[in-house]
Amino acid sequence: MATAILGLQWGDEGKGKITHLLARRADMVVRFNGGPNAGHTVIDRGKKFGTHLIPAGAFYPDTMSVLAGGVVIDLSILREEIDAIAEHVGYSPDVYVAENAHLILPYHRLLEELEGSGSRFGTTRRGIGPAYRDKAMHIGVRAGDLLRPDVLQQRLQWRIDLLQRMWPDVTEVQAFRAEELAANAIEQAQPILESIGDASERIQAALRAERNVLFEGAQGALLDVDHGSYPFVTSSPTTFAGLGQSIGIPVPDVEERLGIAKAYTTRVGAGPFPTELSDEIGERLQQAGGEYGVTTGRPRRCGWLDGVALRYAVRVNGATAIALTKLDVLGGFDSLRICTGYELDGRVVERFPLSGEVVNRCRPIYEDVAGWNDETMDTVRRFENLPAAAKAYVDRVEAIAGVPVSIVSIGPAPEQTIMRSL
Ligand code: IMP
Repeated sequence: MATAILGLQWGDEGKGKITHLLARRADMVVRFNGGPNAGHTVIDRGKKFGTHLIPAGAFYPDTMSVLAGGVVIDLSILREEIDAIAEHVGYSPDVYVAENAHLILPYHRLLEELEGSGSRFGTTRRGIGPAYRDKAMHIGVRAGDLLRPDVLQQRLQWRIDLLQRMWPDVTEVQAFRAEELAANAIEQAQPILESIGDASERIQAALRAERNVLFEGAQGALLDVDHGSYPFVTSSPTTFAGLGQSIGIPVPDVEERLGIAKAYTTRVGAGPFPTELSDEIGERLQQAGGEYGVTTGRPRRCGWLDGVALRYAVRVNGATAIALTKLDVLGGFDSLRICTGYELDGRVVERFPLSGEVVNRCRPIYEDVAGWNDETMDTVRRFENLPAAAKAYVDRVEAIAGVPVSIVSIGPAPEQTIMRSL
């Protein structure tokens, strides 16, 4: 049985909590896209973790965690996370790294600053874009190179030569030395050095043996490099289509493609956001939902649920069901709004436009739905016992999205989760 966890909005949908929960029954958890730009909040045995790279399988003793070929890895962050989780759980997590996964090196972060994409697009400033760009330009350094120090150093030398030719006046660029970068990378990689290899083969073997494999997506559909609100996107695929490419299995047999959507919408960084609320309601959602980035600490922009974007994200992912998170945060409003269409240049559109600039010109068309006021809602464990208006809200989401809501999350703790059909 294989399941993929996929973000249906602009990231931060609560994938961390759901992945952590489902990882409990998994034999293997595979992270397949992005890098430490992701920020997954996980509560494990009462302790809160903000993880960026390490798959949620690391929290369970019998689960293998895999970083697949499509991920970009910052070894210093991975090392910190392995150490922190090892201290918490009392054993070394079993982490396997694809030899073809690319590394984020110190010059990638510096390049992001020098080129200004941090301020132009509000990126997470983790060197993600420059690392993926190096990969496409054949000048990247990969995890497998760590096993061949001479190759590693040669690749770094080529990269630095080019970098130093491009930025002759930047002291920090001129100070890079291939030997030092190689030595640091090998040192940081110590805990995983013996677990670097052909991840594709391992994943395929697990799928063939019908093991329980969980694919952990990062970011959300609207940030997908091809299918998101370009150019305000991340640099990797974030939708299901990217999974097969990342793991090197052409048509992965993943029966359950669980899309995660927050009961409202948030976005960090620049870019269009039709249902954004720049008023006290937006502020209230931000406070009640604790909407601050796990990776950067930036306040997240907040707004009503966008049904147009949600329908699109479900389609482009082939999502089979939705986990609706943070429903409790909507409690206490007299009425709520759901966007069911956009007005664009005087016309009504129900299709999510593929250009960020066009999305920016869309005005939301709302449907008003009843709110609920029940302070004990986060203690409910059965769907039937939710307030009637909350159930009606979930029903409406299902109707708009066209797929069932199989999980409803009503608080950050693992037990604050209603499993409807699992
Ligand atoms: P980058 O991925 O750091 O290059 O950032 C590109 C855009 O994606 C920025 O708007 C970021 O805020 C956004 N982004 C990247 N990763 C995440 C995430 O995990 N959650 C929410 N937004 C993200």
